[in-house]
Amino acid sequence: MKYCVYFLFSLSLFFSCTDGSEVTDSLANDDVSKVNDTIIDAHTLSNYKEVSISHTHLDIEVDFINKRIKGVVSHTIDNSQNKDQIILDTKNLEIFDVTLDDGDSATYSYGDNDELLGLPLIINLKQGTKKINIAYSTTDGTEALDWLVPEQTAGKNAPFMYTQGQSIFTRSWIPIQDTPGKRITYSANVKVPDGMLAVMSASNPVERNPQNTYEFNMPQPIPCYLIALAVGDLYFAPIDHRTGVYTEKSMLDACAYELGDMGKMVDVAEDLYGEYQWERYDVIVLPPSFPFGGMENPRLTFATPTMIAGDRSLTSLIAHELAHSWSGNLVTNATWEDFWLNEGFTVYFERRIMEELYGKDYVEMLALLGYQDLEQDVASLDPKLQLLKLKLKGNHPDDGMSNIAYEKGYFFLRYIEESAGRSNFDSFLKKYFDDHKFQTIITEYFVGYLQRNLLFATNLDLNVNEWVFQPGIPKNCPKVVSSRFENVEEKLKLFYYKSDINVIDADNWSTHEWRHFIRNLNANTTSDQMRIIDQKYDLTHSGNSEILAAWFEQSIKFGYEGIYPALENFLVRVGRRKFLQPIYQALANSDEGMKRAKEIYSKARKNYHYISFETIDEILKLKDKVN
Ligand code: BES
Ligand code: ZN
Repeated sequence: MKYCVYFLFSLSLFFSCTDGSEVTDSLANDDVSKVNDTIIDAHTLSNYKEVSISHTHLDIEVDFINKRIKGVVSHTIDNSQNKDQIILDTKNLEIFDVTLDDGDSATYSYGDNDELLGLPLIINLKQGTKKINIAYSTTDGTEALDWLVPEQTAGKNAPFMYTQGQSIFTRSWIPIQDTPGKRITYSANVKVPDGMLAVMSASNPVERNPQNTYEFNMPQPIPCYLIALAVGDLYFAPIDHRTGVYTEKSMLDACAYELGDMGKMVDVAEDLYGEYQWERYDVIVLPPSFPFGGMENPRLTFATPTMIAGDRSLTSLIAHELAHSWSGNLVTNATWEDFWLNEGFTVYFERRIMEELYGKDYVEMLALLGYQDLEQDVASLDPKLQLLKLKLKGNHPDDGMSNIAYEKGYFFLRYIEESAGRSNFDSFLKKYFDDHKFQTIITEYFVGYLQRNLLFATNLDLNVNEWVFQPGIPKNCPKVVSSRFENVEEKLKLFYYKSDINVIDADNWSTHEWRHFIRNLNANTTSDQMRIIDQKYDLTHSGNSEILAAWFEQSIKFGYEGIYPALENFLVRVGRRKFLQPIYQALANSDEGMKRAKEIYSKARKNYHYISFETIDEILKLKDKVN
């Protein structure tokens, strides 16, 4: 047994352990605002520590003809330090004019452009300035916005546009202090073309109005990566008294069915970790170009249509985005180097919601798939990217978007839960969310908080430093056992051994059993064996996107040709990066595949959001050649 000794010296807190590891860290102080004063977000060029924005008001018009958002943003500022300048982040924006308060003209200039972080806008303030107003427009170079023509939507009769703020894209559609380390409230007036509906991460309309102008209000303070807007031919269907779904008309019934358990999910989440703080929880199901599975924009999760499987089998994605209403949106990572505080906690919370609703057996399948993802990343990622606490200065924050934050984060929390006991851990988490609601925190602070509020009280000495500050998977990582997956493995073995497809008796398999089966096809599988499986189960035409994507990836590896042209169809239609990346990568591993990939990509690229085509350009070595 190793003993930790705890010394508290005014602001600094030291805890040293008998295994020689020592954390000497003023960052583990118990006063979160003091800790926050000492940290620097490496991904903003703004001076948010000196002068900060407290409220943002947008008065904008969405212009589909020129593919621009234009208008005025007014920031109410807090300048108690009496600084004479405020610096905002911008990227690829056009600034027309800046005024102060009720219209006093202002002088402004730009700092040095940074290819990654953008162009700082420096506005000179006067004594007592309370508000800055910036007239601006987005440009073709915007990274946040996706403009879709009618053919790229389900209904094919109206255009569509949506924003993606996380991680550092908000600055490409709003001049703002773009850091997760600061919270703001916001409001907006948004004008849209005739017949279209606008929705935001705020209070939302449920139907069109004849003025084509919509008003929004987000009274709870949020980090600005959560400001979000979508405009399209949208309709709304309620699920229960506080949940519902927005999507295009032709998808409304299917989406309402798929999300039918959403009301129960919110109830279960509240029972676990405390009251839901955002009033409503709605989801918008977007067109298939959306680059993510889901995005936790407060009050209105943005979701991919690839989660609509017809059988509710992919709704852990909604449990995930809902869980962010606590981990991420209520308690926020103060820098992108602490991203696991958002995602690891959310995966843990998501699986607790799923366990309440669908049982332990179900969740162990999800956890085991997660563990496999983690092992893969540990085998392939640079050790520097295998830490929960990341160092990302000079790199894009999205480089930290790996299974380390999600799954290593999850297993770390599960390890604490199993060590401390579930009820102790649940009380700890509930208090953690309550103590830090509407605040931002960093990893070192969390480690100190964990020691003070759980580990000392329960007399536990866990290898926290190894989990958080070292690469790889610690030896005491919880083991997941799934009897349903063991059955799949047995069937797979028999299939190879007997060369007989009929030993696989998969009629009652869930999506996740299929995913496990496909992932665990052995490395020597032949294209003939793939064909035999496909002849019986027609995986090439599965209506389930997770099965389809996994099947395509393996088919490419084993040279099974039967997937084309279904593969092409999928790649041209779907822009979700998590699916595209491994498939294009598998293709790019051979000359022939690379040729095919480029051919398909020439048709598909226009259907992807910036976030996805950036990644795929790199895989196909097209950087700087396309655009
Ligand atoms: N917040 C993330 C999406 C994100 C992360 C966007 C980093 C930009 C930068 C969201 O909650 C998420 O994790 N989405 C996952 C789905 C989830 C079920 C794991 C995704 O999109 O794959
Ligand atoms: Zn997430």
